[in-house]
Amino acid sequence: MEKKIAVLPGDGIGEEVMAQALRVLTAVEKLFGHKFTTTHGLAGGAAFDKYGVHMPEETLKLCQASDAILFGSVGGPVADVLLPKWKNCEANSILNLRKTFKFNANFRPVKILPELQDISPLKAEVIERGVDMVFVRELLGDAYFGEKKTFIDENGRRKATDLSVYDEDQVASVAHVAFKTARLRRNKVTSVDKANVLENSKLWRTVVTEVHEQYKDVQLEHMLVDNCAMQLIRDPSQFDVVVTTNMFGDILSDAAAVLPGSLGLLASASLNSEGFGLYEPPGGSAQDIAGTGTANPVAQILSVAMMLRYSFNLEKEAQAVEKAVEAALKGGCRTRDIFKQAKAGAGEAAGTAPTSKLVNCQEMADEILTHLKQPVLV
Ligand code: IPM
Ligand code: MG
Repeated sequence: MEKKIAVLPGDGIGEEVMAQALRVLTAVEKLFGHKFTTTHGLAGGAAFDKYGVHMPEETLKLCQASDAILFGSVGGPVADVLLPKWKNCEANSILNLRKTFKFNANFRPVKILPELQDISPLKAEVIERGVDMVFVRELLGDAYFGEKKTFIDENGRRKATDLSVYDEDQVASVAHVAFKTARLRRNKVTSVDKANVLENSKLWRTVVTEVHEQYKDVQLEHMLVDNCAMQLIRDPSQFDVVVTTNMFGDILSDAAAVLPGSLGLLASASLNSEGFGLYEPPGGSAQDIAGTGTANPVAQILSVAMMLRYSFNLEKEAQAVEKAVEAALKGGCRTRDIFKQAKAGAGEAAGTAPTSKLVNCQEMADEILTHLKQPVLV
């Protein structure tokens, strides 16, 4: 198979984790006999340095001419978010891409492997019930894309508003995606809203219920967002597919993403209705550790797996990457984010797995590559 991939590493740890992910992509290419042509483009602060904008035309054209987009992360150090280079960086780059390519559904799978309990912040008895869910987050509506204003009100005070809007087509579209996804899994959808307060949540709930008429074989439950935040920690085993709004999805999916141990372990896919997709780790640019070589490359590598599966329909290849990642983790390889986690959470059993070994970004990828080269063993 021949495919063109737009590679946008972005800022912070983006470059270093992307470099490792591309090594894995090259290994898949060789192992399975494909041809992936990767072309780099600038995004975020990295693009600003050269073009004075966060998402240059060149990068958009590159994405347009590609079969998939592999994205790193964008954004500056927390203390600098209002400097010109970083101001609105995320909105101008990633939100621009979402809007340009109409990526309306964001998939974030969250799974805890029993063998990796030691790096999860959850108690063993909670994990033992099984944690395996996927977030389907609406990506083009809500306060993210509604009218935005900062102004002086009638009393001379500064005031700011972000209009939170949904139309029924936006809700129906992502509801269909969620029900179809559930049919391939455990047949359950939890729709999360704030219908006891918000008008657009009332519409959300009504439309999801209407769409459900076409998927009677799938169980649907509605849950209020505050309760959902609690249930995710209390008993995540109850969730299969969680479908929710842009803002709630942003917050809840980060909360859920840390259940397996670190944001650095999970990938995400943003798809449009034609199946064109962008693949990225949801963890951000982590400027505090950028350049130290200690970032966890797993989320970026698993984003490659999602790309192989969703954009190229290469299921075997996707699984090979996922299995190689699992094998490296089961073998005790731990980047700093998950090594610390085990120590803090496990008390006396600090470090837990006897073979637990602190590795850097590149060493983690080395280990994953070792397992990828020996698919028989994983
Ligand atoms: C995410 C991120 C983005 C979002 C930011 C970077 C704009 O947090 O993909 O979850 O809020 O959607
Ligand atoms: Mg987020």
